Order: sequence, then C-alpha cells, then structure tokens
Amino acid sequence: MSSTICRRQGVRRNEFEWGDTDHSHGHNPGKVRLDRMLEIKNLMVFFENALALNDLNIEVHRGEIVSALGSNSAGKTTLMNTISGLIIDMKVKEDRRGGERITLMGEVRFEGEDILLTKPSLRIRKGIALSRERHPIFPESDIEENLRISTYLRRDPGIHKTFDFVYSIFPPLIKLKKRKAGFCSGGEQQMLSIGMALMTKPKLLLLDEPLLGLSPAMQNSLIQAVKQIRQEGITVLVAEQFARPLLPIVDRGYVIENGMLTLEGSGQELRENPEIRSTFMGV
Ligand SMILES: Nc1ncnc2c1ncn2[C@@H]1O[C@H](COP(=O)(O)OP(=O)(O)OP(=O)(O)O)[C@@H](O)[C@H]1O
Ligand SMILES: [Mg+2]
Repeated sequence: MSSTICRRQGVRRNEFEWGDTDHSHGHNPGKVRLDRMLEIKNLMVFFENALALNDLNIEVHRGEIVSALGSNSAGKTTLMNTISGLIIDMKVKEDRRGGERITLMGEVRFEGEDILLTKPSLRIRKGIALSRERHPIFPESDIEENLRISTYLRRDPGIHKTFDFVYSIFPPLIKLKKRKAGFCSGGEQQMLSIGMALMTKPKLLLLDEPLLGLSPAMQNSLIQAVKQIRQEGITVLVAEQFARPLLPIVDRGYVIENGMLTLEGSGQELRENPEIRSTFMGV
C-alpha cells in the first residue's frame, strides 16, 4: 500500500503547537492547542532477530480516538504491549529463563516522560490501561468481582463512581453482576474486559482488537461505548483490522504493515481513502 495521505516518519515537532484539527465530534473546533499525550518516536521492537515494529512514529493527542489499523501479524499487539508495558514483563520473564531475546529501541513518551522501560503496574498508576486481545478474566469470579479486582492499584475514594460509569456504558453487565465471568458470552466478556481496563481509571485507554469475533449488533454497541468513553474525557487508541464500524468515530488513524507505518491521516482522510476502503472495509 503506498502512502497517499501523509507520511510523517521522522518528523519531529515541538511539544505543543497551534494547528487545525478535524475533531468532528464537537471537541475544540477550529484552532486548538494540541496536547500530545502519547508520543512514540522511532520505536523498534525485535523478537530475537525478527523486527516486529520498525521505526514507528505515532502520536495520540488528549481527547482523541485514534486507530492503528493493520492486518494479521502487522504488529498491533506488539504496539499495544509496548505502550502498556506488558512487553517489559515478557522481556524480564524471557531474560530470567534464558529464552527469547526481546529488544526495544526508541521512545514511548506519556505526558512528556519516556516510559519505554517502565513496568506495567507503574504505567497503570500513570493512567494507561490496556484491554487485551483475549483479555484474561477470572472465570470463577463473577462480573462484579472481576471489575473490583482491577481497582487494586487505586487509592482514591471514587471507585463506586467508576462502577456506575462502567454499568452505564455497558447496561447488559448490570443484570450479570453476579454471574461467573466464565459463563458469559464472548460479547459480554469483551464488555467486561474493557470495563476492567476502565476500573483502573485511565487517562489513555488502549483497545486491542475489541471488535474481534463480535456480531455486527454487538460491534455497534461497542463503538457507541467507545464514544461515551471519550466523552468522559478518556483518550482512546484502538488497534483493529476491522475498520468499517470503527472509522466513523476516529479522529485520526495510522496503518501498520509488517511493523511499519504506511499511512496516516485524519478520520475523514482515512474514510475516503480507496486503499483503506478496499483493504480494511471490503468496499
Ligand atoms: N513473542 C514473540 N516472539 C516472536 N515473534 C513474535 C512474538 N510476538 C509477536 N511476534 C511476531 O511479531 C509480529 C507482529 O505480531 P503481533 O502479534 O504484534 O501482530 P498483530 O498485528 O497483533 O496480529 P493479529 O492481528 O494476528 O493479532 C508477527 O510477525 C509475530 O509473529
Ligand atoms: Mg494482535
């Protein structure tokens, strides 16, 4: 896929700049001050000698919904694990047992601070939460217990408010509070998994393939939930290979192929791009 929108690799800009944005959802219309919550610069991730992410440059501004689109093996999960820090846990484990060598290079800046090597629990405290592909739940615990487990790092008194928020965006979970998570459907478990990430009270929510395996109706409810999450002031970065339901709500997006950025643009540019339409929307 050639770059028909904008190729921004290697471009460095100031921390803040004044620029036009295309927030099409009523946020900061016109000239706004960009607040680069997340800045990924020249990121490389190797598994042994295999390059999974190659010189990636990505930005997420406060208040945005940003997509990282990519087909199978593009590097989406590696990217999400690198931002959430899960890859650090994997690396430490592999180093200890003398297994696979995982090498990270470049910068992952969150609110100005380089967190490339920061452990995941600290990143959760800083406000980054990941809802994983096939998110691990506690199947023997009920929905409410699963949600509560995710608050273990919180010290603030507002946990009940976050419960209310999660139940307000995922009403089907209300009736299922006392059901064992292992007995819930794939869609219900997906809501739970995003709910668990929200229970940590993140500033930045990372979603790895949230639409995978869901019915079209369930996909639409999930997209509505993502809009509500953003309305609550939470910034969202979502990795997907299924763009059709997602693209209408994204402010900006990136396309990753074989670990490299091949395209980036505003939501509208992506929606109108013929290559995206044929590759990710089946048009
Ligand atoms: N632990 C690992 N060891 C070796 N190679 C890995 C490891 N994890 C990922 N890879 C490789 O890195 C590349 C990117 O994988 P990744 O899982 O990030 O892609 P993805 O876009 O999430 O794919 P999918 O859509 O299938 O979830 C792939 O070539 C994969 O085989
Ligand atoms: Mg993946």
